Amino acid sequence: MPKLFSEPWYRSNSRVTPESSFRTRREFLRDLGVLGITGLVAAQWGCGHSEKLIAVEEGCNESDLLDITRFDALNATQNQTYALAPARALTSSSDALSHNNFYEFSEDPKSIWCLSRNFQTKPWSVNISGACEKQGDFNLESILTLSPPEERVYRHRCVEAWAMTVPWIGYSLRHFIDWCAPTNDATHVRFVSAFDASTMKNVNFIWPYYEGLRLDEARHDLALLATGMYGRELSPQNGAPLRLVLPWKYGYKSIKSIASVEFLKAEPSTFWRDIDQNEYPFLSNVDPTRPHTFWSQETERLLGTTDRVPTLPYNGYGEWVAYLYSG
Ligand code: MTE
Repeated sequence: MPKLFSEPWYRSNSRVTPESSFRTRREFLRDLGVLGITGLVAAQWGCGHSEKLIAVEEGCNESDLLDITRFDALNATQNQTYALAPARALTSSSDALSHNNFYEFSEDPKSIWCLSRNFQTKPWSVNISGACEKQGDFNLESILTLSPPEERVYRHRCVEAWAMTVPWIGYSLRHFIDWCAPTNDATHVRFVSAFDASTMKNVNFIWPYYEGLRLDEARHDLALLATGMYGRELSPQNGAPLRLVLPWKYGYKSIKSIASVEFLKAEPSTFWRDIDQNEYPFLSNVDPTRPHTFWSQETERLLGTTDRVPTLPYNGYGEWVAYLYSG
């Protein structure tokens, strides 16, 4: 992994790489066999480059798999507390269902909808451990009853400079955190995704995926524990049956398909930071002034369009969360 950004063809690139060049470069690297070695090389363009859907396996019918109505309907009360002005148009459900980052399945965001179709998300349980009173396995149903579901429209900003606007369904993560009853000396919480070797076949990384938050971040009302989107249960490719949605942070902090939660007394390691600590720091709040090594973070492309819009500090949510970082 340390050799990741030392390739000579990267050094010659400017920090702002035009999106149109990503695919060519991706193919170039694949031809060189570099993708298989470094893995994370793909992460820098994992969002938004090959616009064509890829049905990489038999049995992937777009009109069936990308139809949001195939998922069970959920009832949720709208919570508009965090609506940002001016409102952005919602990303279409088919765009949100067909363009995903879920590296366990593949590094190609346009193939996840197909590769994840047999990922089993029912029944589901979450293991809780560490510095908290609750210990052991808890079924999803018991977790879902902790607070009534709300619909919240959030902007999502991928570190690779694409964005979407999605009506998520879930409740504030803090209800779950309080139920777990962390001990007084707990400072952080770590989340680990499920790993199912029969469907998650990307061998370029060591799974499972893991992420973490400070407890004060996790207790912020904006942090959502999501179970649905667009009025329906989450699709496998979007992180069914339980994921985080942290709209002020880069998308990789919003871990999908959560299988375990652990309370800790120190900052945990995180999946991407363990691969590159400078590029993917623990906090990873959206920050347009801090460029990625290969592109600017000043603007973002809205998924399903060619429009680019300015990126805002904390993805626009600063009025609610900036105080968390004032120290
Ligand atoms: N969670 C897991 N387990 N594996 C992943 O690869 N990718 C992250 C995040 N959560 C990822 C994950 C990244 S980089 C992004 S941008 C979002 O999921 C994408 O969410 P979406 O596919 O619902 O748009």
